[in-house]
Amino acid sequence: MIDKFLELHTLSKSEYLELLQYWENEEVVKRLRTEAVSLRKQYYGDKVFTRGLIEFTNYCKNNCYYCGIRNGNRHVDRYRLTEDEILECCQTGYELGYHTFVLQGGEDPYYHDERMEHIIRAVKNQFPDCALTLSLGEKSYESYRRFREAGADRYLLRHETADETLYRSLHPSSMSLKARKQCLFDLKELGYQVGAGFMVGAPGQTLEHLAEDLVFLQELQPQMIGIGPFVPHHDTIYAEEKAGSVELTLFLLSVIRIMFPKVLLPATTALGTMDPRGREKGLAAGANVVMPNLSPVKNRKLYELYDNKICTGEEAAECRGCLGRRVASAGYRLVEDRGDALV
Ligand code: SAM
Ligand code: FES
Repeated sequence: MIDKFLELHTLSKSEYLELLQYWENEEVVKRLRTEAVSLRKQYYGDKVFTRGLIEFTNYCKNNCYYCGIRNGNRHVDRYRLTEDEILECCQTGYELGYHTFVLQGGEDPYYHDERMEHIIRAVKNQFPDCALTLSLGEKSYESYRRFREAGADRYLLRHETADETLYRSLHPSSMSLKARKQCLFDLKELGYQVGAGFMVGAPGQTLEHLAEDLVFLQELQPQMIGIGPFVPHHDTIYAEEKAGSVELTLFLLSVIRIMFPKVLLPATTALGTMDPRGREKGLAAGANVVMPNLSPVKNRKLYELYDNKICTGEEAAECRGCLGRRVASAGYRLVEDRGDALV
C-alpha cells in the first residue's frame, strides 16, 4: 500500500487510514519524507515563500470551542486595526521584501462588506505587485464575490475537520460543516486561490478522521493547505487536553506533499510553538511557505488563539530575520516572489 501511494499519489479512505497508522514507523516516515522533499524540489527548488500575516481584529462572533479569541471568552482584550494601521503593516512588510499580505481576523461584523472592500482596494492600489490573501471566516457568496472584485487574490479557510460528528463536537450548533464546505466551493468558483486545512490532534480526533480530511482535500483540490497541531488555550473547555503531536503533523505534511506535489504548504506558527525547531522540521518534511507576523507588536499578544504562541514580542524585521535564518538552516532559501499557485 505504501508503494501504491508513492506510485499513484492517491488512495481510498481505508487505505489512507492504513497509511496513517505508520506515522511512528521510522522507516515509513523516512520513505515518505524523502519522496515529499524530492517532489517539492522538483517544483519549487530550494525556494520558500513568505506571507506577511496581519492579524487585524481579534473580535469574533463565533464560539469555536478550541479557540482562545472565541466570542464567549470574556478575558480577551479586544482590538481592531484601522485601515491606516493595516496599510502601515503592509508598508513595513513591503520594505522587508514581502509580496503577499494575509489579512486574518475573527469573524468581526464591524468589517462589513463596504469597509472590507475599501481596505482591499487600498492595499491593492498601494501595493499593486503584491498578492492579497483574506482569512475572515465564513461569508456569503455575494461578499466573497465583492472582495474578489475589489482585488483579493486568495482565501484561507480551514475546513477544520471533514467529519460531521467531530465538527459538531468542536463547534456550537450555529456552525456547520456543510456551510464551511460550501464556502470553500464558492471561493473556488469565484477564482480565488483557496486554502483549506485542519488542526492535528484536535480533541476527539482519530486517525480515521484524518483519513476523511485527506479524502476531502482530494475532492476540493485546494491550492494551499494549512495544517498545524492543536494547542490548548487556558480559557477554553479544552484547557487540559493534550496538544497535537509534532511528529504526526510532520508525517501529514509529507503525505500531503505527495498527494499534491504543487501545493503551497506552510510550516505553521503552531508547529513552531510546539517545537522550537518545528518550522524547520516542517520545511524538511515537505512544507514550502512560512508566515511571519506583521501585526503591530502592541496587538500581537492579544491575538492569542492558543497558549504560548510564538513571535508575539518581536518586531516585524526581527521575525523576518529570524525566519530567514531558520529557512537557511533547513537548507532552503527565503524568496521575495508573490508565490502564486502553480497550475
Ligand atoms: N476567523 C477565520 C476563520 O475562521 O478561518 C480566521 C481566524 S481562525 C482563529 C484561524 C485558525 O486558527 C483556525 O482555522 C484554526 O484552525 C486555528 N486555531 C484556532 N484555535 C486553535 C488552537 N487552539 N490550536 C491550534 N490552532 C487553532
Ligand atoms: Fe517570528 Fe522567529 S519567526 S520571531
